[in-house]
Amino acid sequence: MQEVMKNIHVQIVRDQTAGGLAGFQVFQNALNKGAQVLGLATGSTPVTIYDELTASDLDFSNLTSINLDEYVGLKPTHPQSYHYFMQEHLFDQKPFAHSFVPDGMNLNADEETKLYDALINANPIDLQLLGLGQNGHIGFNEPGTDPASTTHKVALTASTIAANARFFDNADEVPRYAYSMGIGSILKAKQILIVAYGEAKANAVAAMLQGPVTPDVPASYLQRHPNVTVILDQAAASKLN
Ligand code: F6R
Repeated sequence: MQEVMKNIHVQIVRDQTAGGLAGFQVFQNALNKGAQVLGLATGSTPVTIYDELTASDLDFSNLTSINLDEYVGLKPTHPQSYHYFMQEHLFDQKPFAHSFVPDGMNLNADEETKLYDALINANPIDLQLLGLGQNGHIGFNEPGTDPASTTHKVALTASTIAANARFFDNADEVPRYAYSMGIGSILKAKQILIVAYGEAKANAVAAMLQGPVTPDVPASYLQRHPNVTVILDQAAASKLN
């Protein structure tokens, strides 16, 4: 099923496998139109898109990728770092000319966030891939984040620490801080693809698309972006009118 709401194109797919193919097609179209810089995300949601990208004959060797976020304090070689995730799921198979992920080992937050913003400004993102948090976060922009925010150091909320704890041996090991592009940085991308699966995301999906634009739901600011594609499964779409 497909529905167009103003600037937002919603596509409902059978499951995460079908979502991988649908997401791949959004990437393919963007590349066909000349996209040079891809904004990328980690987490469980994009994995099937990355599977399709790695299995395809698309060539990224002249392109640039810029990731949304990284935990502060994890080395790139830590299996739960976002650097490691991207190597494993995409970059090892499909190298880009340049791939950037915030440097979680740079403990000088002011320096790191300024460097990352300069990088984004010098390489405007053509297509930004996003997952959606159960609380409506995008990147690590938790409820209450300034919509004009640029790259910043974030103290993770208890709910995000709990949601990410499944990737660590216990919740105490989950980093408490991350570097994240801000909502303002994300909204500068020319096109945005946001993907959500499962009933646990249904409230956040409804608030993102049909609720007021509010700092309580960072993803609701996507309503103000001119070109957004949303891929959902039935469960994630189940609270939409
Ligand atoms: C990941 C990121 C996060 C996730 C979100 C959904 O780089 O920035 O915002 O996209 O937490 O995570 P999953 O896909 O694991 O449900």
